[in-house]
Amino acid sequence: MPKPVLDLSGQVALVTGASSGIGAATAKALGEAGARVAVNYRGDRDGAERVVRAIEAAGGEALAVEADVSDENAVAELVARTIQAYGDLHILVANAGLQKDAPAESMTLADWNTVIGVNLTGQFLCCREAIRHFLERGPQPSLSRAAGKIICMSSVHQVIPWAGHVNYAASKGGIMLMMQTLAQEFANRKVRVNAICPGAIKTPINKEAWGTPEALEKLLRLIPYGRVGEPEDVANAVVWLASDLSDYVTGASLFVDGAMTLYPEFRDGG
Ligand code: BGC
Repeated sequence: MPKPVLDLSGQVALVTGASSGIGAATAKALGEAGARVAVNYRGDRDGAERVVRAIEAAGGEALAVEADVSDENAVAELVARTIQAYGDLHILVANAGLQKDAPAESMTLADWNTVIGVNLTGQFLCCREAIRHFLERGPQPSLSRAAGKIICMSSVHQVIPWAGHVNYAASKGGIMLMMQTLAQEFANRKVRVNAICPGAIKTPINKEAWGTPEALEKLLRLIPYGRVGEPEDVANAVVWLASDLSDYVTGASLFVDGAMTLYPEFRDGG
């Protein structure tokens, strides 16, 4: 076996929800690491094209593909188009996600269903489609020790309950056990499945929480490391989980959160 490296040359990655935020940074980082990247988006074509151009400008290869990840047929087509364009698929980053916040007593069923549909069902559909391909192809030891790598974008809210966001927290808690179950189910067929749990990362999804000095001051009280995360903090962790440097890691939740999950309110003894 060759020595494991971070280099992803020759591999193909699909990143969902990659027109902005964590997905965009992840697509660029995977491109820089040598993977050819399918940049999935829904609606924001300009954003996705900007990501594609950035990857190309850095010497990589990428294409933008529109699909609603909560739609079974659209996901099948998304994966098929990626494989058609690049001949294979080795890395899935199931990242697309959204928030539709409301106090539980006034949350509509539509908002519950949309969040579960995109964040949880959408990740399942993408995982299922990628796994089918990984199993059919099997390992290619010259490219990677695993037959396929899946990174599910979870959140600190897979363990931190979140008042006013019950649909979102439920979706992330669901992702945790979905990821662990898939990791258990497919480990013997050399498919690795892991999750990243970002804390507060500066992206459009949570601009309200860091966009003003007052909000930022309040948010920083929850982050012992003393800064809001950048999308690249997450993207770097994705590249590691996608590479053979993490080959013995599967079923893991990697918290990229500046210690947000370490009960900061107990820092001074509680
Ligand atoms: C949410 C953000 C939030 C962060 C920390 C993320 O999963 O999408 O809105 O700032 O968790 O609470």
